[in-house]
Amino acid sequence: MVESDSVVLDVATGTGLIAISTAKLLERSGRVVALDISSAMISKAEEKAEALGLSNITFLVADVEDVTFDDASFDSILSASAIPYLQDVKATFGKFSSWLRPGGRFVFNTPQSPMFAASDIGHRVLADVCGLDLLDAAHEVGDVSRVKNLLLSVGFKDVEVPDTFVMKDTSPEAFAERMWKSTTGFAMTPVDAVLSEQQLEGVKEKYIIALTEEGKRLQVGGDIVNPYNELFVIAHA
Ligand SMILES: C[S@@+](CC[C@H](N)C(=O)[O-])C[C@H]1O[C@@H](n2cnc3c(N)ncnc32)[C@H](O)[C@@H]1O
Repeated sequence: MVESDSVVLDVATGTGLIAISTAKLLERSGRVVALDISSAMISKAEEKAEALGLSNITFLVADVEDVTFDDASFDSILSASAIPYLQDVKATFGKFSSWLRPGGRFVFNTPQSPMFAASDIGHRVLADVCGLDLLDAAHEVGDVSRVKNLLLSVGFKDVEVPDTFVMKDTSPEAFAERMWKSTTGFAMTPVDAVLSEQQLEGVKEKYIIALTEEGKRLQVGGDIVNPYNELFVIAHA
């Protein structure tokens, strides 16, 4: 996907996972600008790039919502697992569209909305049992037509959402167990950290019942195809 002489921006690079593999793909003829708001993340990424002898990455500690680049600075903008952290998604996507050269691509993944729960069941049960109203951080981007409209509204010419990452379960019970584990074990839905054991038990009981019912509803033939997963989005400037 990335041409060898490309200039690529990796937004919210973390410890450089994507930036480093992109820099390797580009070898010496292309280069990567890797930015993250966290200096600790960038230090780690720099350490990794240095150990690999990569000289075609520039690291930058910056909030992508504040930083500016010249128009048409990049051939591609990549961002893995970071877009839901943005405060003003529309404004930031608008900047990406101008930072890309015409024909350039912005590629990112995002959880589908509602986020990290099998449909809105988790949110409903939490509201019911503990009065918690969890933020659905993927609301603006985690839906195919919403994300397409958003990107087109800030100047992207064409948007593809070629695939959703689909998981299958073999029974409604297995589906319910897996979704419970992914909801409680994930840092952005820290229910196990904030609820008392008693509250957690109450939530789990209701959640498993509701998810098992949802699993039965979703079952087609033998498998349950869970539609609440990741979107991969490619927007063309
Ligand atoms: C889940 S990590 C993903 C890191 C990396 N892309 C990966 O896939 O391994 C999210 C990253 O987003 C960064 N981040 C969050 N908000 C940001 C912002 N406004 N500007 C730049 N980086 C940001 C965090 O510091 C963190 O490193």
